[in-house]
Amino acid sequence: MTLQQIPSESCRERSTPVLKTERLVLRAPRLGDVKTIAMLANDRRIAENTARIPHPYRLTDAEDFVATANFGNEAIFAIALRNGTRKDGTTKDEVIGACGFTQIDRHPPEVGYWLGTDHWGRGYATEAVRAMIDHIFSDLDCEAVQAAARVTNPASRRVLEKCGFQWTGAGLLRIRAISSSAPIDRFRLDRGLWASLKSWGQMQHAVA
Ligand SMILES: CC(C)(COP(=O)(O)OP(=O)(O)OC[C@H]1O[C@@H](n2cnc3c(N)ncnc32)[C@H](O)[C@@H]1OP(=O)(O)O)[C@@H](O)C(=O)NCCC(=O)NCCS
Repeated sequence: MTLQQIPSESCRERSTPVLKTERLVLRAPRLGDVKTIAMLANDRRIAENTARIPHPYRLTDAEDFVATANFGNEAIFAIALRNGTRKDGTTKDEVIGACGFTQIDRHPPEVGYWLGTDHWGRGYATEAVRAMIDHIFSDLDCEAVQAAARVTNPASRRVLEKCGFQWTGAGLLRIRAISSSAPIDRFRLDRGLWASLKSWGQMQHAVA
């Protein structure tokens, strides 16, 4: 699919929710994000830790990503910093990465995420993944969410831990950027645990 063939972008934007957190906004990726996404994603450290991102990552890869996002059984969000509001009320934002989830048949949705390297280590991934999980459990009929991380990827593993995911086992995942499979750990977050963590967080907030 090419960019010229996606007149339905505004429809898809309307059907993809906008998730706001303290510092971030998660929204459907747009044509205007293509250059930024291509620049951010063109890093081997990102490609080698995700299943589908190629390396090198070219402008055409970002165009395909935007053109095919949010069709079928997946929800894709650009992760942007909330940088304020314009006079006309629209939000200024700076895209720093992307995240999303795929749901195949009745299996729990599987989440994925990446950030441009300049933005690592500031808690943004945890904030984005929490927002996505809250959306999944609040708005969709799912009893669990799953995720996977390469065994050599402690940062991603830590993100999942901070969101309440629990280790469920090991496996192998095909990684496009290395044209090979690599060992991964699998994780799962059940609705019950998510609800407990949410009420515990709210309780702590209330007594603080
Ligand atoms: C994984 C990724 C999204 C994390 O983004 P981030 O915004 O830096 O994540 P956060 O800041 O929310 O949390 C990272 C946590 O990992 C920890 N961490 C980072 N590098 C680490 C390492 N080498 N060893 C142990 N912990 C590490 C951080 O200290 C932080 O934990 P803390 O808050 O307890 O200190 C980012 O590194 C990335 O895009 N990597 C490439 C793509 C990828 O791995 N995607 C996930 C696919 S499963």
